[in-house]
Order: sequence, then structure tokens, then C-alpha cells
Amino acid sequence: MNTTPRRVEYQQTDKGSIPVYTTGTVEQPWADYTRSEHEVWATLFRRQREILQGRACNEFIENQQRFGMSPDAIPKFQDLNRVLKAGTNWEIVGVEGLLPDDVFFDHLANRRFPVTWWIRKPEQLDYLSEPDLFHDLFGHVPMLLNPVFADYVQAYGRGGVKAHKLGAEALTLLTRLYWHTVEFGLINTPEGVRIYGSGIVSSRGESIFCLESDVPNRIGFDLERIMLTQYKIDTYQRNYFVIDSFQQLMDATKPDFTPIYARLAKLESIPAGELRPGDRVIHRGTGEGWSDTGTT
Ligand code: PHE
Ligand code: FE
Repeated sequence: MNTTPRRVEYQQTDKGSIPVYTTGTVEQPWADYTRSEHEVWATLFRRQREILQGRACNEFIENQQRFGMSPDAIPKFQDLNRVLKAGTNWEIVGVEGLLPDDVFFDHLANRRFPVTWWIRKPEQLDYLSEPDLFHDLFGHVPMLLNPVFADYVQAYGRGGVKAHKLGAEALTLLTRLYWHTVEFGLINTPEGVRIYGSGIVSSRGESIFCLESDVPNRIGFDLERIMLTQYKIDTYQRNYFVIDSFQQLMDATKPDFTPIYARLAKLESIPAGELRPGDRVIHRGTGEGWSDTGTT
């Protein structure tokens, strides 16, 4: 039995030391998951299902139910793919972990979502520093059944392929958009502000914090503002950006970004947590307890 990811090396980046994995896709070694690994899934699944009632947006909850994910066992990629293929023509591919930007973008541009095949250890239920199966499957896959969001993620992948050719500055600006939408986005609904970001729905603490804490800012979506905004990778976010609809996300990102990158590259980036004149402030954060480390 082998449930240890194949880590190739560590690489120093501006985000710290990051593990580099085999970049090919891998078969999900489903039969090799241990009882304890299925239990980690079950615990996290039950916990988040409960917390997300009334906190995650309907699109997330309903689409997750369509997959028939349950606490009984770690889902099989094959079973999820049947639903996903029929739904929005996306598919899941198994990977060892975080991928180089260009490989990741190419997957998304072709409607393939890379899912880490291994799951965190029982002592990492509340935090780990890189995506695992629970984050990828529970957090990302449900939203890919939403037709508009599914198209958005593909468009992002295509935009990534382009930004990668343009260079590091374009990539930084585009990555911030992914972070503040796909990973940590909130959406305004008739019932109130709800979560759609995958980084939030897969975290017990942040699912509550992002909506209920007075500490962080909640700001209306603004494409260029987001691209200039630094983010935290090792703590809860200081800013959450709130969209009005998934269509708004689609429409705002339609234009060619090349001239936008050129213009924004000349401007100063905005530190995480700082408000600016012109922000559509939904909630002004108290900023309590903020120190200034770990900003990207
Ligand atoms: N329109 C963007 C470009 O020209 C691509 C993109 C679409 C980026 C959707 C992000 C999200 O680069
Ligand atoms: Fe993610």
C-alpha cells in the first residue's frame, strides 16, 4: 500500500518554500485508502455540511448534493466524473498536489480540474498549508456543476495560458483574481451574503469568520481593485470580495486583460486589509489582531 505523495523537490518562491510534485496525472488509488483516511473524509464532510447550511450559497449546496457525495467513503473520481461530464462537460483528473502554473492553466483551459488524490492526516483537520483531496473535491468540484461558473473557470485557464506568456507581473495580477474569487469569494443573495469560495467552504473556522467576524473587510467586487490587492496565505483573509452574481464575474472578465495588465503593472499594489476611496464597503473591518506577515 502506498498513500504517500511523490514529492519531487522543494522550490523557493515568493510564497515561501513550496513542494513540487510529479506533474503528470495519476490514477486515484482508491482501494489503497485506509480506514483512517476514510474517517478523516467522514469527519470533515459531516462538519462542513452542517456549518455550511445557511452560509454557503445554494449553488454550492445543491450541486454538491447532485454528486451524491456522502460521509460513508472518499468518493471515487470515476463516479463524480459521470455526473460532471453529463452536467457541464468538465472532468476531474488526479494529481499529486500543486502544479506549475502553466500545467494548471492548461488543465482548466481544457475543462479538466486537477484534484489531489491524497487526504490530510487526522491531526490536520483544521489546517494544512497545501491543497489535499478534501479541499479540492469538497471545495472546488461542486461549483463546476454550475454552468456559468464552469465557463468562468475555463476562461480563467485560457487567460492563464496567455498571462503566462506575458510574464510574471501579469501572472501576479491574474492569480490575485483567482484567489479573491474562486478560493475566497462571497456572493450577495436575496437571503444575505453567502460563501462560494473553495478555500472557505473547506475550512471550518473561515466559513464562520468570513461572514460573522467584524475583523475583515467585505467589499463589493471590482476587477482591477482585486487584481491590485495582496492576500494572506497563512491566516484568514483580511478582505472578502462580494459578487452580485456569477454572471457579473463572467461579464467583468470578458475583456482582453493585456492592456489592463500593462496599466496595473505601473500601480502600487494594495496591502491586504487596506480600504481605498471608491471601495464599495459592505463591512468595514476592525482589523483587530492584524500583524503584517505573509502577504502576497
Ligand atoms: N479576459 C481575460 C484575458 O483576456 C481572461 C480571463 C477570463 C481571465 C476569465 C480571468 C477570468 O486575459
Ligand atoms: Fe483551491
